[in-house]
Amino acid sequence: MNHFIPIKSIGQSFNECIHCGLIDPEKDTTIIFYDNDFLKAKIKELKESFPNSTIHTSAVKANPLIKILEKSKALGLGAEVASEGELFLAQKAGFRNEKIIFDSPAKTKAELTYALQNDIHINADSLMELDRIARLKQTIPSASLVGLRINPQVGTGKIASTSLAGKYSKFGVPVKDYRDKIIKYFKAHDWLNGIHMHIGSQGCEMQLLLKGIEKGLQIIKEINNTLKSENRKVEFFDIGGGLPVSYHHNQHPPDIKIYGQEIKSLLKKYNLENLRLITEFGRYLHVNSGYILTKVEYAKHYPNDNTLIVHAGADLLLRECLNPGQWYHEISLLNKDGNHKKSKTLKEYQIAGPLCFANDIVARDVKIPEACEGDYLVIHDTGGYTFGMWSKYVSRMFPKIIGKESNHYFVIKERETVKDIVRFWS
Ligand code: LLP
Repeated sequence: MNHFIPIKSIGQSFNECIHCGLIDPEKDTTIIFYDNDFLKAKIKELKESFPNSTIHTSAVKANPLIKILEKSKALGLGAEVASEGELFLAQKAGFRNEKIIFDSPAKTKAELTYALQNDIHINADSLMELDRIARLKQTIPSASLVGLRINPQVGTGKIASTSLAGKYSKFGVPVKDYRDKIIKYFKAHDWLNGIHMHIGSQGCEMQLLLKGIEKGLQIIKEINNTLKSENRKVEFFDIGGGLPVSYHHNQHPPDIKIYGQEIKSLLKKYNLENLRLITEFGRYLHVNSGYILTKVEYAKHYPNDNTLIVHAGADLLLRECLNPGQWYHEISLLNKDGNHKKSKTLKEYQIAGPLCFANDIVARDVKIPEACEGDYLVIHDTGGYTFGMWSKYVSRMFPKIIGKESNHYFVIKERETVKDIVRFWS
């Protein structure tokens, strides 16, 4: 499938939404677009790539919008949640409890009690959390699946802050150092029925992910050998998310079909073809399905430098501002009617957000045609891990989110008002 939403279709959507009144350029200084057809195609490709019995979930942190969660549910996904808030979002979107996977390294007793009482799948992050679950289970009857998150310790990817499988990680039980203990816990608790891992996000090459998965299969094999005499075995292997996507036309993301094929070969190699897989993709499902449009409020042209002041800054694009070498997006320029501005002569710009700190620059040294007040910048491939990381700093209002499906547009979320800001800080 095409990895990117073409600029022509972006410009056309912008123009159509102005004409049908969904966008008011005076008030909608930033708009987020999300394309359900793109998501649909991604989910189809995902399902086709993995064994049929695989349970696929969407990592809610990547895109917590209830309407998008509802769509994901309708398309057959479950939900991976990392907090009590995300858990309730998933329930609100209609996911059945068994389709909700509760990850988080800081689950409280009250949260675990709720999850057990409601048969929600729990992945414990530590042996200490398993001890806590064991105590709670003495009095709470529950059909929750319970997995243990391991750290396969296969090394870090290109982005340290999103790599979780180094020798040390704040997540999971290190598999090299605690192998015997892990096996002992499976022996001791017949309700412990799966292994979970998440190796990292973006920056982790497919080979690193596969290396981690192989480590997981090896320990599953060992656990199964130990449990054989009791006629028990590991029932599921949750491989997390982490497949990188492409943010740039000249980069080729790993092919999910090949990833699925390689995983199937590993299952075969370890004679574990009947093991149920679970996935928790976020970036793969959402990043390329959305984009941000933000209005040029000022075009500051000076002899030595040019800066565009726009309305999307570190509040929406935190990583991009704080770690620009590793996180940056392609940028295009539209005029006020949505026509793509093209020119042979380009100008170099710093694209600055509206917040009060010097690093609020969402893109640096960007070469685009000369921009003027009222143009809109397109920040491509921002459907995941952007608005989900929204910051309230400087009390800017959260922008309107517009959805598109089968050439039909609808509001996914209304723009915030000053009343919402006052309510938040009251
Ligand atoms: N499962 C678990 C347990 C996770 O922690 C994550 C992401 C996922 C699944 C989904 O991973 P994905 O398929 O999206 O790579 N922009 C953020 C990304 C942090 C990702 C956190 N975990 C950041 O820069 O902090």
